[in-house]
Amino acid sequence: MTNLPPKHIAIVMDGNGRWAKQIGLSRLEGHRAGVDAAQDIVDYCVEIGIPYLTLFAFSSENWKRPKEEVVGLMNLMREYLSKDSSKLVEKGIRVRTIGSLEKLPKLLQSTIQSLCEKTKDCKRLNLTVALAYGSRAEIAEAVKHVSSDVLAGKVALSDISENLVGNYLQTRELPDPDLFIRTGGEKRLSNFLLWQLSYTELCMTDKYWPDFNRNDLKSAIADYQNRERRFGQSS
Ligand code: FPP
Repeated sequence: MTNLPPKHIAIVMDGNGRWAKQIGLSRLEGHRAGVDAAQDIVDYCVEIGIPYLTLFAFSSENWKRPKEEVVGLMNLMREYLSKDSSKLVEKGIRVRTIGSLEKLPKLLQSTIQSLCEKTKDCKRLNLTVALAYGSRAEIAEAVKHVSSDVLAGKVALSDISENLVGNYLQTRELPDPDLFIRTGGEKRLSNFLLWQLSYTELCMTDKYWPDFNRNDLKSAIADYQNRERRFGQSS
C-alpha cells in the first residue's frame, strides 16, 4: 500500500535551544541555525514538488520566554522574511502567515504584509509561517465570527457544519495537513493546528531541528507513504 506524497506537511521545529546548549552556543545561535535548516527544507519541498508547507515558528506561549530571546527571535524572523523576497518569488514560493499578527512588532508586521503581497501570485509552494499562533485562540476567534454572523442573520444555525467552521479558520485557503513532523523528541501537538490535524499522520523524531535535513524529510515522507490512511473507516 503506497500513498501519494503528502500535499501538505506541517512541522513543529523544536530543539534549537538544546542543540545550541550541547555545543556551547547561545539559544539565539540555535535559532539562527534553525532558520538555516528551515530554509533548506523549504527549498527541498520546492524541488520535490510538495505544494503546501506550514512551519510553527513562534507560538502564543513563546511570549513568556526571556525578553532577550523573544526580541532576538523577532529580529531573526524579520531578517529571514525581508532578505529573501526576490529569491522566494524566483523559486515560486507564496508566503502566508497565521497567528495573532497584531501582537508582533510593527516593523515585522509590515515586512510580512509586503512579503505576502509580493509573493501572492507564486504557485509552486504555499509556505505558511505560524507566528504568535495558538490553535485554541484561532478556534475561539472563529467561534466569535460565526456567532456574530449568526446574530447578524448572515448565517443560520442550521448552516453550521464542519465545513463552515473550517472556512472561519485562518487556514481556510489550505488543505488539512497530511503529514505532521515534530523534531526535538517531544510527543505533543503544543496547541498547533488542533482542528486541522484531526486525520494527519504524525511523525516524531528525536533529532533537534537544526540537525533535521533533507534526508530526514525524505524518510518521513517514505514512512508516510507506507501508512494506511483510513480516516476512521475499516481497511
Ligand atoms: C523551538 O526550539 C523553536 C522555536 C521556538 C523557534 C523556531 C523558529 C525557527 C527555527 C525560525 C524559523 C523561522 C522562519 C521564519 C521559518 P526551542 O527553543 O523550544 O528549543 P528547546 O526545546 O531545545 O529549548
